[in-house]
Amino acid sequence: MISSNLEEAISYLQSGLLVAIPTETVYGLAGNALNERAVAEIFQVKNRPYFDPLIVHLPGLEAVEKYVEYFPEKLRKIAEKCWPGPLTVLLPKNHLIPDLVTSGSSLCAFRVPDQPLTLALLKGLDFPVAAPSANPFGYVSPTTAQHVADQLAEKIPMILDGGSCFVGLESTIIGCENDELVVYRLGGLSVEDLELIAGESITKIKTSSSKPAAPGMLESHYAPKKKVVLVESWADCVVDSTVGFLFFGDAPFPALHQVNLSEKGDLLEAASKLFASLRALDRLPIEKIYTQLLPDNGLGRAINDRLKRASA
Ligand code: TXA
Ligand code: MG
Repeated sequence: MISSNLEEAISYLQSGLLVAIPTETVYGLAGNALNERAVAEIFQVKNRPYFDPLIVHLPGLEAVEKYVEYFPEKLRKIAEKCWPGPLTVLLPKNHLIPDLVTSGSSLCAFRVPDQPLTLALLKGLDFPVAAPSANPFGYVSPTTAQHVADQLAEKIPMILDGGSCFVGLESTIIGCENDELVVYRLGGLSVEDLELIAGESITKIKTSSSKPAAPGMLESHYAPKKKVVLVESWADCVVDSTVGFLFFGDAPFPALHQVNLSEKGDLLEAASKLFASLRALDRLPIEKIYTQLLPDNGLGRAINDRLKRASA
């Protein structure tokens, strides 16, 4: 059921059930992070392997402090500036967070989402909420309540409707190794913005995929059912009714099946439309989706990361 009834969502979560929740990045599949049965059900509903840990959501930095062993100063300063927002921080967890949430790691991913309904929800709960993106494992993340319903409606009692996600890409994941900042997943906060906020340049971007430190980094991920083909030049494509195109900026030619991420070439707009566009193309009677990489700066970098994985 899709509904924007906050009280009802709170009461489902309190009784150990799962609720899909809106965030500024993508919709999450939420459950009580301290309740191992609820956490196990998240993995089950998503069909997600247990080695892929979950992000823990809380309403503010003070709330996060209750669940960490300590908060490295460098990361705290960044979190103070970025939360609520599309940033996830890996921190040493304390004993309150079950190992199931972190797949056995001593580090836990924490995030304070910037979505009014979900912030109110988190404030109304006396436990943190574990929430991966609310899609079956490996598929495109949902950015509307309807996207969640398309795949999970039968499996969960409620989808809390907070409208479309305004960022549209998952959070950027960071941590600290030997006092040096590391980015584990490119996402809704660009590396350039992060560097400005941190006051240092970031050289460690560990998002490679064979043995993922932060999954979501698996080589094939965020993938629609239709084959996604990244082309260097549009001249490499055969244009007919069996293929679809994902454009950005001026369309190179008219095509029967096409979606434009941003006609004016705006990366923010493209990020917010990426997953909905892939889902829309996936529903068409076509065999392949042709697309090109976007400019590799700002959010373009995270969008390109998703396109490469969708085509892997
Ligand atoms: O924007 C987001 O982050 C969304 C919304 C719902 O908050 N959530 C999300 O969750 O994208 P998910 O599960 O689809 O991706 C979380 C990624 C995983 O791929 C996982 O590898 C990484 O975060 N992660 C979580 N906990 C971790 C940990 N303890 N150590 C390393 N990586 C971790
Ligand atoms: Mg995901």
